[in-house]
Amino acid sequence: MNLSSFLSCFSSQQRGGGGGGGEEEAGQRGGETVTTSKFPVFSYNQIKTATQGFRQKIGEGGFGSVYKGRLQNGNFVAVKVLSVELESMRGEREFISEIAALSDIKHENLVILRGCCIDGAKRLLVYDFMENNSLFHAFLGGEHNRMKFNWTLRRNISLGIAKGLSYLHEEINPHIIHRDIKASNILLDENFTPKLSDFGLARLFRENMSHISTRVAGTLGYLSPEYATSGHLTRKSDVYSFGVLLLEIVSGRPVVDYHLQYGDQFLVEKAWEFYISNTLLELVDPVLSGDFPEEEAIRFLKVGLLCVQETTKLRPRMSMAVKMLTNEMKTEDIEISRPGLVADLMDLKIRQNQSSHFSSSQASSSTGSFQAR
Ligand SMILES: Nc1ncnc2c1ncn2[C@@H]1O[C@H](COP(=O)(O)OP(=O)(O)OP(=O)(O)O)[C@@H](O)[C@H]1O
Ligand SMILES: [Mg+2]
Repeated sequence: MNLSSFLSCFSSQQRGGGGGGGEEEAGQRGGETVTTSKFPVFSYNQIKTATQGFRQKIGEGGFGSVYKGRLQNGNFVAVKVLSVELESMRGEREFISEIAALSDIKHENLVILRGCCIDGAKRLLVYDFMENNSLFHAFLGGEHNRMKFNWTLRRNISLGIAKGLSYLHEEINPHIIHRDIKASNILLDENFTPKLSDFGLARLFRENMSHISTRVAGTLGYLSPEYATSGHLTRKSDVYSFGVLLLEIVSGRPVVDYHLQYGDQFLVEKAWEFYISNTLLELVDPVLSGDFPEEEAIRFLKVGLLCVQETTKLRPRMSMAVKMLTNEMKTEDIEISRPGLVADLMDLKIRQNQSSHFSSSQASSSTGSFQAR
């Protein structure tokens, strides 16, 4: 069976499965139009036209380059050109099935996958375009950026991220571990609603062969120690990364900041110091000029610290984190234990990379993966 007939079968299965909303879109391959009920499979030419020949590159990550485009229907999209070797990738049919499943996952705080394109060895993913870029670019880029994010916005963004992650972890079956929660994977739409991107990408790769399973996915500083050292992956690794992100959002500081003096560079370590000396308020972003509810800010920092605890079992599940952030669940009486720190590992990695390409700014925006073995 060729790809077109597979898609036709897939399409009818989907309709049989109760898709039935008439949300049909057409994909094309080799001149032949292929219809699926759930998502379009674009031809390479369609993508080329949409991106005006891949003219506007908007970013580059561990999986490849991202380009801005506009579909025939007028919608703006971000096209991710996967640069992973073909042998690591799932075969065409499996790839499309996985894409279909992923494009079915819809939540207000998740970026929607609009479709894909397969052309020989080329694999491309088409996402909704997010107007306000990522939290990394829009927020962590400097004081000037952070001033646009008042407390209410920071609260809503934190809560949105927590809800998106809680959905992936606890509301879909089988659950999805994101693996790479970090500021550059939190995109912001035109209303600054946060949307998690890049979830479920591991599914597109063959087991034991992927870029992800042979290297520990994730970015320096956001990685839980157990995942960094042994590759042991659970939902609690995402919870750790979320905790780091939460500390970043409240403090306005990147997870690692080499502009600061030695001892102050690692945000998680610093937050713990402030916590044990009962001075957490000092960590809140000075750019806010005190214009924030103190109790809530401290609560958010405590939730961050609860999420980064070294003992995985003590970290809350994401649904609990949501309840703590909204104060439906009290945090005052919960004892917080020491955080897991990968500072020593990071020092090692940084020394290894200093002479080559690794710079301090990349420590929080790394496009690659951290090889822990
Ligand atoms: N849907 C999108 N809308 C707008 N910009 C996007 C979108 N997807 C990605 N980008 C931009 O492209 C950049 C690169 O994204 P990409 O996911 O490839 O790399 P990354 O997030 O930095 O690292 P990783 O590969 O680990 O996810 C992002 O930081 C963001 O600026
Ligand atoms: Mg990304």
